[in-house]
Amino acid sequence: MKQEKDPAFVKFKGIEKRFGKVVAVKKMDLEIPEGSLVTLLGPSGCGKTTLLRMLAGLEEPTHGDIFIKGKRINDTPIHKRNLGIIFQNYALFPHKNIYDNVAFGLKYRNVSKSAIKEKVEKALETVRLPGVGNRMPSQLSGGQQQRIALARAIVIEPDVLLMDEPLSALDENLREDMRREIDNLQQALGVTTIFVTHDQREALSMSDKVVVMKDGFIQQEGDPEEVYNNSINHFVADFLGHSNFLNAIVNEKQGDYLSVTLEDNNTCLAVPAGTFNKGDKVEMVIRAQKFNLGYRADHVPEQGENVFFGKIVDRSYMGGEVSYFVELENKLVLHAINFVKRSPYRRGDEVFMKVMHEHCRLLKV
Ligand SMILES: Nc1ncnc2c1ncn2[C@@H]1O[C@H](COP(=O)(O)OP(=O)(O)OP(=O)(O)O)[C@@H](O)[C@H]1O
Ligand SMILES: [Mg+2]
Repeated sequence: MKQEKDPAFVKFKGIEKRFGKVVAVKKMDLEIPEGSLVTLLGPSGCGKTTLLRMLAGLEEPTHGDIFIKGKRINDTPIHKRNLGIIFQNYALFPHKNIYDNVAFGLKYRNVSKSAIKEKVEKALETVRLPGVGNRMPSQLSGGQQQRIALARAIVIEPDVLLMDEPLSALDENLREDMRREIDNLQQALGVTTIFVTHDQREALSMSDKVVVMKDGFIQQEGDPEEVYNNSINHFVADFLGHSNFLNAIVNEKQGDYLSVTLEDNNTCLAVPAGTFNKGDKVEMVIRAQKFNLGYRADHVPEQGENVFFGKIVDRSYMGGEVSYFVELENKLVLHAINFVKRSPYRRGDEVFMKVMHEHCRLLKV
């Protein structure tokens, strides 16, 4: 019978880390569900590596407790935590061949020689590099070396796989391939994984859950669509990319929406993220992809939509999509991204930009 998955397979409770006056991680509570891939996403210095290093046993928490499978591990030494670790700076041993690199973690685990051989071969197959055991790390490409690091981490059948920006040294194409590979491998093995990145696309594309951090605090956690579509504050909406922010004042409720007045005195309807009162200052957030453009002369008012009029001041072709910057009459510039197929517009064209009410969200300021 299949057992229920533990929703708090890894648990941080009130965890805090101070380095002198710097508080790298502040009273953080976080639960990582069994078998999931969770990314820690945030700008440089927000505490991602510190959190991972505390879990790994490389850093001692100043306050709080860490649990794996319900057991408090604060005092468990590193090698007894059963973790697979791939850190950016944890390179392969250059003077050991691939076989010995992968076998490294098993040698201290009372595994017989024949079992080691079997496990190493299986791990190399899993990362799709069978038969390279005799080569030296320098005889493999950067991407292949990262796959060996992955093999070395999974060969011990870890309870948790920790990855700290493992792809940052790779070029963009290889990064994309490796991202997919890690994602597939993680699902196939079902190993609980914590992946650190400051790349929002990376986080959104591969995670079951994204944890957005800033200054040692969790700002928001949830599945990728949740944090992207329902960002709870300016920081999260901005960090996840392509957000327009418009200042507004709350008028009154209209059905499921709130009516607001913008700086140019136009009114819009939008979804309130929280409770607001008449007269409150708010920020209306609209993702660039949610706008649909058209020639101004062709505009016909439609139900359920807010509309803006302006002139295209910048256009850039991005392969499948076109990115536009549109200057409104009050000089505010909005960003829109549309599919190429529907994008004949050029710099200088007078356009309308329409967006459904449900894609306009109001945040507290
Ligand atoms: N050993 C240390 N001594 C003093 N301060 C430290 C130490 N390690 C980290 N810090 C500080 O703690 C904060 C969090 O650092 P951390 O390395 O966890 O950030 P990060 O989110 O991993 O950033 P990055 O994306 O740049 O890797 C930073 O202000 C950093 O300067
Ligand atoms: Mg870091």
